[in-house]
Amino acid sequence: RMGRLGHRLGYGVYAVGGFVRDILLRRPNLDIDIVVEGDGIVFARAFAQEEGIRVRTHKKFNTAVLIFPDGMKIDVATARLEYYRYPAALPVVEFGSLKMDLYRRDFTINTLAVDLRPERFGRLIDFFGGQKDLKEKTIRVLHSLSFVEDPTRILRAIRFEQRFGFQIGRQTERLMQNAVKIGLIEKIGGHRLFHELQLILMENDPVPALRRMDEFQLLGVLDPLLKWTEKKEKLFRSLKDVLSWYELSFLDEPVEKWWIYFCALLDGLNASQLEGVCKKLDLPEGHKTRLFGALRNIYRAARELEAKESPPPSIAYRILNGLSTEELLLLMAKTEIPEVRKSVNFYLTRYRYVSPEIKGRDLKEAGVPPGPIYRKILDELLYAKLDGLVYTKQDEWEYLK
Ligand code: CTP
Repeated sequence: RMGRLGHRLGYGVYAVGGFVRDILLRRPNLDIDIVVEGDGIVFARAFAQEEGIRVRTHKKFNTAVLIFPDGMKIDVATARLEYYRYPAALPVVEFGSLKMDLYRRDFTINTLAVDLRPERFGRLIDFFGGQKDLKEKTIRVLHSLSFVEDPTRILRAIRFEQRFGFQIGRQTERLMQNAVKIGLIEKIGGHRLFHELQLILMENDPVPALRRMDEFQLLGVLDPLLKWTEKKEKLFRSLKDVLSWYELSFLDEPVEKWWIYFCALLDGLNASQLEGVCKKLDLPEGHKTRLFGALRNIYRAARELEAKESPPPSIAYRILNGLSTEELLLLMAKTEIPEVRKSVNFYLTRYRYVSPEIKGRDLKEAGVPPGPIYRKILDELLYAKLDGLVYTKQDEWEYLK
């Protein structure tokens, strides 16, 4: 239907980028990107009206987002022809051709397009050898200034390479090394750098990409002493086991895996190094507080649990109670002491679900004057229950006497 509308408006309409790449790789991808040779906003508005769906437009970029009732979104862009009227002027954006639009992209595998116009529907358009590179499993830039134009592509190359099990091409690899050497990574704003790192940590298995980042000396960008050591390798291996265990046991309680990986990556840095990393990444205040808090919680809990041999459940509970699930999982992966791992395991699978039979209203009915004492009594009952000193409500009343 998009193609037919394009035909009526006299526009070329194409599906492009990751969506086409993933069709050829037979990988699921629900993000559809459309490029229009013509006015993308006029096209998107007309399409939204015909289909009775919502549209959001961004005049400045000549782009629009089509929003379907089920929440699916399609991005519509105008094929751009950016040029500079004179040196150092802002780019003038005009309607351009698909080929020009694709030429501005990062890697050949992301430059494939499918024609959606009725007379040519489904025809694959491959200006820059994207199909060949998909077959050869190679990540290749389109031209030698690609990383200079946009240094975030250095991290994107690594992410795509590892996600698809591809190889960065020889020349592309040289350009990347050179870009790193001349400090282009430092030119990426903290916010974007953090976003790219986050995307890497959100991959199914971020470990190969982190290893590769280290090979390109990119971890050192965060902190000169940050390296992919044998110790990190071990921590991440153990984290993988812990996370598979957790995901199988708690299907309905998803955790923020990228966050756990982020903390694990920075684990071992001291406070001033962490400050430095936060600054490099222009980390939002909320994330920063959470990061310092998480590492502090984990170190404290590990120290306290390790100091006690097989602590009773009520003690383990008190030590672990303030930690988020993400922090608990990292602690579990980090500790080398089986007893500590067991305490965290029991906390996650049992202790945290325990509560006394007696509730606040029972205390009220029994004539206990309301106040902070309630919390104290209920906590004492909880600890007694955790340690197996009481089982029934009757036991609890007895215990209180
Ligand atoms: N792109 C680019 N340079 C960047 C970021 C994006 O050239 N620094 C181009 C890529 O060609 C990409 C398109 O913009 O195909 C859309 O970007 P994005 O949604 O990040 O890419 P996907 O390939 O869809 O990535 P993912 O599969 O991770 O969603």
